[in-house]
Amino acid sequence: MEIVATPQALRRQLAEQPTGPGGLAFVPTMGNLHDGHLSLVRKALDSADTVAVSIFVNPMQFADGEDLDAYPRTLDRDIELLTEAGADLLFTPNVDALYPQGLRTHTAVRVPGLTEVLCGRHRPGHFDGVTTVVCKLLNLVQPDIALFGEKDLQQLLVIEKMVADLAMPVRVEGVATARAADGLALSSRNGYLSPDERDLAPHLYASLLQIRDAITTGAREFQGLCADAVQGLEAEGFAVDYCELRRCDDLSLAQPGDQDIAIFAAASLGSTRLIDNIRLRAY
Ligand code: PAF
Repeated sequence: MEIVATPQALRRQLAEQPTGPGGLAFVPTMGNLHDGHLSLVRKALDSADTVAVSIFVNPMQFADGEDLDAYPRTLDRDIELLTEAGADLLFTPNVDALYPQGLRTHTAVRVPGLTEVLCGRHRPGHFDGVTTVVCKLLNLVQPDIALFGEKDLQQLLVIEKMVADLAMPVRVEGVATARAADGLALSSRNGYLSPDERDLAPHLYASLLQIRDAITTGAREFQGLCADAVQGLEAEGFAVDYCELRRCDDLSLAQPGDQDIAIFAAASLGSTRLIDNIRLRAY
């Protein structure tokens, strides 16, 4: 696997490493790779001849007071995992390489609407940071396909809209959430959980499954189902940011009869914020 750290070296390497007819797939990450990321890399390897991965902890998507400094950085281990997985190219820019004039004056890419609810409401500016860096990475790598985890479903929907609105020449693909045996969605932030919190954490997904099962067996009181889940989670010690059923096309609140909806939830245990979702294309 070739490793490059600057946009210039990346462009050189991509020019020297022409992709075959199966094209170039790209997996942007913030590192601290786990099986969820590796499932993206595996899907990328199935979908294209060449696979590029980036590791960049993007300061623009962290608000003041969030975990930017504490965010786990495990580059040596990540390189081993990507080499074993069979990735061809790794891009590891530092902050100066992507934001040479700093963040404050950098052009921002903003997707209105979809970013104003759910995590967008609780993490102001977060999605502007995500879309700005993803747009920049896509412009640098110029892949045929870019892969994102469905665990961050709102992020995936926002990126799909950015790519469609800006006519960016890339196909965006979502990859199913990888879960631990007890159902907890894999996330780099799970490492922050204390042993007691880790035991409790799968209850978030269990609550979403309960809502899904109620809907698939005929319940239509969407708000009531979500309110019950919030009450149950809070009684167990979660601080719930939201648990809502929304349409996947515009993220407006779902009404019975809407197709392609998702149950979205975000809740904290101590200082660790967990997010999860279940998408229901038909029910
Ligand atoms: O999902 C992530 O890890 C990040 O938000 C991404 C897409 C790599 C952008 O920094």
